[in-house]
Amino acid sequence: MSDTYSNPLDDPAADPFEIAAQAASDITRLTGVEQHDIALTLGSGWGKAAELVGETTATIPATEVTGFSAPALAGHVGSLRSILTPTGKRVLVIGARTHYYEGHGVRRVVHSVRTAAATGAKTMVLTNGAGGIKTTWSPGTPVLISDHINLTGDSPLEGATFIDLTDLYSTRLRDLARTIDPSLDEGVYCQFRGPQYETPAEVRMAKTIGGHIVGMSTALEAIAARQAGMEILGFSLITNLAAGIQTTPLSHAEVIEAGQAAEPVISDLLARVIGLL
Ligand code: HPA
Repeated sequence: MSDTYSNPLDDPAADPFEIAAQAASDITRLTGVEQHDIALTLGSGWGKAAELVGETTATIPATEVTGFSAPALAGHVGSLRSILTPTGKRVLVIGARTHYYEGHGVRRVVHSVRTAAATGAKTMVLTNGAGGIKTTWSPGTPVLISDHINLTGDSPLEGATFIDLTDLYSTRLRDLARTIDPSLDEGVYCQFRGPQYETPAEVRMAKTIGGHIVGMSTALEAIAARQAGMEILGFSLITNLAAGIQTTPLSHAEVIEAGQAAEPVISDLLARVIGLL
């Protein structure tokens, strides 16, 4: 590892999978858990779910794990947790998402997913807070992600790595989630680069090309999770209607507030779904 880079993933000569393997061995050492079964990334509004999933057996600051960095945003939790569920599953909770808009490159964005895979996790649960295009949704509505449109123009795959993305957001896992809440709707998630919210014209474009949800995360992570062979379940919390669909301006405060208001209900939902995995 070179000393020139504050994060080893920033060294273009480094192998991101080797760094993920190192991170996984840090997690094993720091949590005492040899292998995790499920990984869970908590986005805006989903933070309380961890408490309901099971017993937290270890909490580690993300900065102690190779390749992770402190969160860019106050209110985003910079820690990793190991949880033991009542059914004996080990869940790795990632509260330290690196967003694409931070500008550190895709390797840093998907490092948590690759690390989760290297800890043994076979299921990746990705959650986020996002804007809704369907007018039947209101702030506080949780929805399943059925597919995505990656509008970042980027990819976590390097070189001629051709990977099938059919059924990327597992139909089996969506059906399983609906056994807990049959009213769960679903939609196609459009990942924009951000950090600015979309213009109303961009939202109209997203709708025209088949999108229902707009956000700034998840799609790149899902691609990396598929590359790693994981089965993926995606949830968006609709924190606001997308720009131009709602007539009032969007604000980060509104997004956080909607997340906090919905947190008890969606956390319970998520914990119950994870109990079935
Ligand atoms: N757009 C993009 N990202 C978001 C939004 C939105 O409307 N709401 C919460 N995250």
